[in-house]
Amino acid sequence: MTVTFDPSDIRACVFDAYGTLLDFASAVAAEKAVLGDKADALNALWRTKQLEYTWLRALMQRHADFRRVTGEALDYSLEALGIEDTGLRGRLLAAYDRLAPYPEVPATLETLAAHGMRLAILSNGTPEMLEAGVASAGLGGWLEAVLSVEEVGVFKPAPEVYMLATRRLGLAAREIAFLSSNAWDAHGAASFGFVSIRVNRGGAPRERLPGELAAEIRTLAELPALLGKGT
Ligand code: LAC
Repeated sequence: MTVTFDPSDIRACVFDAYGTLLDFASAVAAEKAVLGDKADALNALWRTKQLEYTWLRALMQRHADFRRVTGEALDYSLEALGIEDTGLRGRLLAAYDRLAPYPEVPATLETLAAHGMRLAILSNGTPEMLEAGVASAGLGGWLEAVLSVEEVGVFKPAPEVYMLATRRLGLAAREIAFLSSNAWDAHGAASFGFVSIRVNRGGAPRERLPGELAAEIRTLAELPALLGKGT
């Protein structure tokens, strides 16, 4: 079930950061030698707790920034999995500022930019985390704006967050394609009114959530052609 859209209406692509452009699994992967067979469990639990804490804080109206939430989720996860290593917490949090981009990301942004598409990030990350991540992944040159939820003080999928992008880019929601690998974020963006395209890297089932997606792709490499901006 998807809504139809006209690719020629799209003026900008706005990307989620973590899990969409930047591979958060690369932080734990760098500590595989230390973590052994607990690496996958830590990666999954850390991400799950991080997101749960953002949603719960939004509902409680008790915002704290994403760096703090990410650290608290890590503390919970290390304790739950019985991982004790004094230096590990600091190393993992530092690695979160230097996450690897997914392999297709640089070429995708380059192709879209070459066709005159405006490009931006809209993320839960703090401005400092995003600045560090974008610089380390080498993506800064293609991005017109890197927008953080810190401007509105609440996490996705609150509609005020998505509104940041329409305001900053001076575009109507239907002129913006929003890309996220996080299904709940893709639905939040669709519910707001963006042309929302889910990047379903793992081939997960359709979420039963409000907000109709415009399309689903497996990786961002499919995006330029979908928007009529093939190489
Ligand atoms: C973000 C999280 C949701 O970048 O991945 O906003």
